Amino acid sequence: MKFFLDTANIDEIRDAAEYGLIDGVTTNPSLVAKEGRDFKDILRDITRIVDGPISAEVVSTEAEGILHEAHELSSVHRNIVVKVPMIKEGMKALRQLTKEGIRTNVTLCFNPNQALIAAKLGATYVSPFVGRFDDVSEVGMNLIADLVRIFRNYNFQTQILVASCRSPLHVREAALLGAHVATMPYKVLEQLLKHPLTDIGLDRFLKDWEKAHQPAHA
Ligand code: E4P
Repeated sequence: MKFFLDTANIDEIRDAAEYGLIDGVTTNPSLVAKEGRDFKDILRDITRIVDGPISAEVVSTEAEGILHEAHELSSVHRNIVVKVPMIKEGMKALRQLTKEGIRTNVTLCFNPNQALIAAKLGATYVSPFVGRFDDVSEVGMNLIADLVRIFRNYNFQTQILVASCRSPLHVREAALLGAHVATMPYKVLEQLLKHPLTDIGLDRFLKDWEKAHQPAHA
C-alpha cells in the first residue's frame, strides 16, 4: 500500500520525505490556497523533494478549460498527475487525457458508480473521500469496500486512492480492504508511527541500561 501526503506545505513534505515515509503527494485548491504561493512554484518545489506521483487539481469546470489546465500542469514535471473533478465535463476531459497518456486522479467520488465511470474512462487513480462521507453520517469505508470489490470484478488498472483520511483508523481499514493508496495529512502520518507502549517500553529499556552501566563509585 502506498502512502501519499495530502498537503501543499513544503516543510511537511520535506520532513516526511526525509524519513522515507511517503510515495507521493496530493494537493487540492484549498490546500494550495492556504500556502499563499504560486501553484506552479509549489509543484516545482514538490517535484524536487518527492520522486513519485504528485496530484495537481484543475479548477475549470468545462472540458475545454480542464484540458487546457491539464496540459499546463502536466508540463511542469513528468510526475504530475492531473486531478479532475467527478463531473460530466470532467469525464469528457478525462477521456481525452487518457488518450493522450496523461495520468489522472478523479476526485470528489462519493459513490461506486462514479468510481466505475472514472475507471471505465481510464483514470489512473480514483479518489473516494472517506472523511467527508463520515462527516455526513455515512460509513466512508463501506465505499472503499465496494470499490475494491468492483475493481477486482473487472480487473480495472485504476488505483483506489483513499482520500480525506482523518485518522490512523482510516489508514488501517483502507489497508485491510486492499486499497492501493491512502493519502493523509502530516498529522495522521505521524500518528501512524506512534503507540504509547512503544514510548513506555523504550523509556524502560534505556533506564535499565543506564542503571546497569553506571560507573561504580569509589
Ligand atoms: C485529497 O486528494 C483530497 O482533496 C483530500 O484528502 C480531502 O481531504 P479533507 O476532506 O480532509 O479536506
